Amino acid sequence: MGQNLIKFAKIILQKGGLVIFPTETVYGIGGNANNPKAVKLIYDKKKRPTNNPIICHFSSIKKVHENFFLNDTDITLAKKFWPGPLTLILKKKPDSKITSLVSNRSLWVGCRIPSNKIALKLLNSIDFPIAAPSANINTKTSVTIIDDLDPILKKNIFTLDNGSSKLGLESTVIKTSKKDIKILRLGSLTEETIKNKIRKYKIIIVNKTRLSPGNQRKHYSPKKTLRMNVKNIKLGEGLLNFGKNNLKSKIINLNLSKKRNLKEASKKFYHYLNLIDNSKCEKISVAPIPNKGLGKVINDRLKKASYKKKIR
Ligand code: TXA
Ligand code: MG
Repeated sequence: MGQNLIKFAKIILQKGGLVIFPTETVYGIGGNANNPKAVKLIYDKKKRPTNNPIICHFSSIKKVHENFFLNDTDITLAKKFWPGPLTLILKKKPDSKITSLVSNRSLWVGCRIPSNKIALKLLNSIDFPIAAPSANINTKTSVTIIDDLDPILKKNIFTLDNGSSKLGLESTVIKTSKKDIKILRLGSLTEETIKNKIRKYKIIIVNKTRLSPGNQRKHYSPKKTLRMNVKNIKLGEGLLNFGKNNLKSKIINLNLSKKRNLKEASKKFYHYLNLIDNSKCEKISVAPIPNKGLGKVINDRLKKASYKKKIR
């Protein structure tokens, strides 16, 4: 990508505007994290309630240290997994310039250093962090390829196109203590990978909305009704398949990974879901996906996508 495009994005951010940019997980819609007006714009554009906090993106651990307190567990995780798909919830220092709007006035803020080269170049060109949620309208699916961006969201917003996201599932959101690691949102950095690299800490998966407001039951949702773990395909359903089996839709068939490779499935997940959502089928059916590693993350997203509000 040309330096000029990054320079252009930098100027927009400096002026308080928003930019859609690539990360290794999913595309983000970002603004100057120190500028309350820019952060307010993000909430408005995304139609996101302001009690659901936004992650701040940094270029280096040094910049994170300038703004936040890190305990030993945070430092261990940061050294192992940054830059990369790890978001740490950290306590802000009193002299940090980051607006309290990013975290619903709480001192605890989600922070991450992305590994995508364009994201890092952009972050290195400015002297403030970028506040950025995933580039989708609230409760809808994240975006891993520019063509899938919602036309309303992207209207009048400058976009840095970097092809398809390398990982395809969002970052793992973590809050630590001296002894344990709490996973508030499952993501591209799996529990298994953390366990393999760091044995010292107990890992707890928390699914409470109070700790991670993004864990609403309905989230990551396509427009159409979705069924997961299907054993057969009903009339009118499109199929998001995995591996080799006898499942077949008469309308649309897409396979996340014929070889049952969960990395490949993660990378294709949101784009394929979007293609089926925009096809002629009435409903979406999804084949069973093994509930381990990245499969557990995909199943978490599918569960939220298939959530139906009970009519009382
Ligand atoms: O991979 C990613 O994390 C992408 C890219 C763009 O970085 N971003 C992303 O942001 O997925 P968003 O806003 O769509 O999801 C952030 C999640 C939400 O579930 C939110 O509730 C949680 O992180 N979160 C953010 N800040 C938090 C905080 N201070 N305390 C607790 N949870 C927080
Ligand atoms: Mg999101």
